[in-house]
Amino acid sequence: MFFYRSVLFLSLLFTAHSLNQDGLFLQRVKLGLSDPAHSLSSWNERDDTPCNWYGITCDNSTHRVNSVDLSSSELMGPFPNFLCRLPFLTSINLMNNSINSSLTDDIATCKNLESLDLSANLLVGSIPASLSELSNLKLLNLASNNFSGAIPAKFGQFQKLEWISLAGNLLTGSIPSELGNISTLQHLLVGYNPLCTTSDTESVRKLTRLSNLDFSLNRLTGSIPSWLTGLKNIEQIELYENSLSGELPLGFSNLTMLRRFDASTNQLTGTIPIQLAQLELESLNLFENRLVGTLPEGIAKSPNLYELKLFNNELTGELPSQLGLNSPLKWLDVSYNGFSGNIPGNLCAKGELEDLILIYNSFSGQIPESLGKCDSLGRVRLRNNRFTGIVPEQFWGLPQVPIPGSLVNLSTLSMLVLEDNELSGGLPDGIQGWKSLNELNLANNKLSGQIPDEIGSLQSA
Ligand SMILES: *[C@@H]1O[C@H](CO)[C@@H](O)[C@H](O)[C@H]1NC(C)=O
Ligand SMILES: *[C@@H]1O[C@H](CO)[C@@H](O)[C@H](O)[C@H]1NC(C)=O
Ligand SMILES: *[C@@H]1O[C@H](CO)[C@@H](O)[C@H](O)[C@H]1NC(C)=O
Ligand SMILES: *[C@@H]1O[C@H](CO)[C@@H](O)[C@H](O)[C@H]1NC(C)=O
Ligand SMILES: *[C@@H]1O[C@H](CO)[C@@H](O)[C@H](O)[C@H]1NC(C)=O
Ligand SMILES: *[C@@H]1O[C@H](CO)[C@@H](O)[C@H](O)[C@H]1NC(C)=O
Ligand SMILES: *[C@@H]1O[C@H](CO)[C@@H](O)[C@H](O)[C@H]1NC(C)=O
Repeated sequence: MFFYRSVLFLSLLFTAHSLNQDGLFLQRVKLGLSDPAHSLSSWNERDDTPCNWYGITCDNSTHRVNSVDLSSSELMGPFPNFLCRLPFLTSINLMNNSINSSLTDDIATCKNLESLDLSANLLVGSIPASLSELSNLKLLNLASNNFSGAIPAKFGQFQKLEWISLAGNLLTGSIPSELGNISTLQHLLVGYNPLCTTSDTESVRKLTRLSNLDFSLNRLTGSIPSWLTGLKNIEQIELYENSLSGELPLGFSNLTMLRRFDASTNQLTGTIPIQLAQLELESLNLFENRLVGTLPEGIAKSPNLYELKLFNNELTGELPSQLGLNSPLKWLDVSYNGFSGNIPGNLCAKGELEDLILIYNSFSGQIPESLGKCDSLGRVRLRNNRFTGIVPEQFWGLPQVPIPGSLVNLSTLSMLVLEDNELSGGLPDGIQGWKSLNELNLANNKLSGQIPDEIGSLQSA
């Protein structure tokens, strides 16, 4: 009896003052990290459970730790492998700290992880292939570290991965075709690395759920992989700043979900496929390539097009006459091409146009009066074209004849460059209404009259 009582007493004493096993492991985590901001000051070893500690979430019924979120906590030191001793842990977020070790194969002992975010740290070394043994992992974010070496081919074995970002590291070699085996994948982000080849194999055709692919700012050569046209659910493709050559693939007509396509700053040749222009694109960036031919009319039908940047190519012909009529066009830059003809009259039909950059083309005719009513305009650059006629009265926001002191209404306009055209007529008074104007260039035209006094009162002219 005495013996029984003392055991009872001891066990009461023990439970009253002891941290559970999860808490003890977390204390080991704390010991391994340098914490100058005292982010872990609430991690008190006298508590029974760690469930109320900063960054810790427990399961409501079992009181076991299931999530550790120590993002942006100014923690420094090696990756805390002790986290993997927490048997029910499903989520680790250490984003935006100074974790400065390499990541070892021990990460595979974090068996129940569904989400691992180690982005924006100082991690180095190779990416452990054993990560793919985390069979429940849905999100893997290793972006913005200094991981080097190759992307493990073993990553093709992920069972449930939906989101992977390896962007902004020092990864080299090829983007392994095995990644195309991850049929659950929705976001594949490997931009900002020195990766140098893509694979073009059958297996990639399993990526039917992929909605977002980012291969930008690598060193990719060769042509745009034709398997892109098999990504039935893709919404965004980013290939900018590589060394891709050859033509844009035909077969874009299957990509009915595509909304944003950016292959700017490559060495692409050939024309803009009609099939690409027929999609309901929101944004099409193909600037700084060697594209020829015309801009297909179909692009004007896209109901959501807000961005169209095609500058520095060898495109010719006229802009689609309906451009802007159906789309909330915001940024249009087709400068440094061989476009000719008139400026379409409906560019600002939806009242969203901010940038109109048409410099170094062969546009001619008059500047449409409708642009004078476009209150959203911020930058207008039309130099080096063949515009004729007078600058439309509405463009200055003025009625028939200049009325001294009247306000010019385009108060958001920050840049108006009309240099090197054949414009005639006079300048209005009242330019002081352009509160944001910081560049006005009218040189090399046939303008007459005096420069209005107000030019001197522009805030940043
Ligand atoms: C757990 O409890 C918290 C606080 O009482 C509550 O906000 C949360 O919804 C609960 N979660 C679950 C999964 O029951
Ligand atoms: C990163 O963490 C620092 C320190 O907590 C914070 O000031 C900063 O806003 C964070 N940055 C991001 C992008 O979350
Ligand atoms: C990592 O950071 C800790 C804490 O600031 C420091 O003591 C250690 O030297 C760093 N290790 C490396 C490899 O930079
Ligand atoms: C990461 O790589 C960059 C570029 O090579 C280098 O300047 C930087 O010092 C590296 N940082 C760490 C923590 O290794
Ligand atoms: C492809 O995925 C399956 C099922 O997830 C897996 O068994 C197989 O090993 C993977 N193949 C490669 C090459 O990664
Ligand atoms: C487009 O889809 C159809 C039907 O799924 C398929 O037969 C065809 O090969 C696809 N075209 C391209 C270029 O992928
Ligand atoms: C300029 O704006 C004023 C006040 O907002 C308005 O009354 C006037 O009609 C506008 N003028 C023109 C030419 O749009």
